[in-house]
Amino acid sequence: MPAQTGIQGEHHPAARFLMIRVTKKGKSALQDQITAFYAKRHLLARTQPETGIATTLAFGKALWQELYSLGPDNFLPMPVVEGDFPHPALAADLLVHISSTRADLCFELADALVSDWEGIKVLDECSAFRFHERRDLTGFIDGIENPVEREERDEVTLLPQAVGACAEGSFVFAQRFVHDLKKWQAQSVDEQQKVMGRTKSEGAELDDETKPASAHIARVDIGIDILRFSLPYGNAGGEKGLFFLALTNNLAVIDEMLQRMYGLNADGLQDRLLEFTKAVGGNYFFAPPQDLLNELFDLEDI
Ligand code: HEM
Repeated sequence: MPAQTGIQGEHHPAARFLMIRVTKKGKSALQDQITAFYAKRHLLARTQPETGIATTLAFGKALWQELYSLGPDNFLPMPVVEGDFPHPALAADLLVHISSTRADLCFELADALVSDWEGIKVLDECSAFRFHERRDLTGFIDGIENPVEREERDEVTLLPQAVGACAEGSFVFAQRFVHDLKKWQAQSVDEQQKVMGRTKSEGAELDDETKPASAHIARVDIGIDILRFSLPYGNAGGEKGLFFLALTNNLAVIDEMLQRMYGLNADGLQDRLLEFTKAVGGNYFFAPPQDLLNELFDLEDI
């Protein structure tokens, strides 16, 4: 029961993320578009294997339960926060993550899925890129603590065999953040480092005396890993930020990170990073294993 290629794949330098509301629900409303998507995907993967094209289709809870009623358990709702430091949900039924060494292929595949698809609304589409030295637009190296070895990655992302047909599926957390880079750049490097909890040049962790309890990594380091495939995005002179995407086989882990970032846990501290970036919409999704997706939509094996 292999995982989808986007779950197993590399953290490529180009990606396109779409969050889609499907107004006409049910398998038959999705069938033609998903068939067209995989036909194009097979063609690109066969003719241009060096581009490493990888895809994940992940479903919002309501649509997934309509398509498949036998799990997974613990498909939690994403924590939603209102107010000055919001964490909003998008009512998306489908998350599409396409990544490759080439942005044009990401575009082409996304277009094959969405073009002429009546009865959907693309709630968010983000074309993202790897920035210098794997840095976020804040200038800090992102992804340092990501698990690297296949075994480690599988252990944090894939549902175990015991769950039956959903085994090797993964939960996906997607959220788009918009940075206030003017405000960020007005801080000294020393202050920025205190916000992140790491040094800017090398990404070395600050020692416990220097690292405030409200630093980003102090809030999200709970001793359990997730796999992050986030990438920066931006319009010149316009909106810029990070499309955050993380995989886990246990949404309670991400829940706890979010609770600690947004000051919802016992110590009530908030992540200082939120003074400089704002979540604008996302949700939790489930990426079924490829076999189950093939079975549901009568797709050829890949
Ligand atoms: C705009 C939003 C965000 C930015 C710019 C950002 C940036 C960073 C940076 C620079 C690091 C340090 C290097 C690394 O280990 O990757 C980091 C670590 C991390 N971030 Fe974020 N992050 C953001 C949002 C989030 C969110 C929403 C979560 C989870 C809910 C999260 C989870 C983590 C985790 C688990 C680590 C590793 C912590 C450790 O063990 O040291 N981040 N992030």
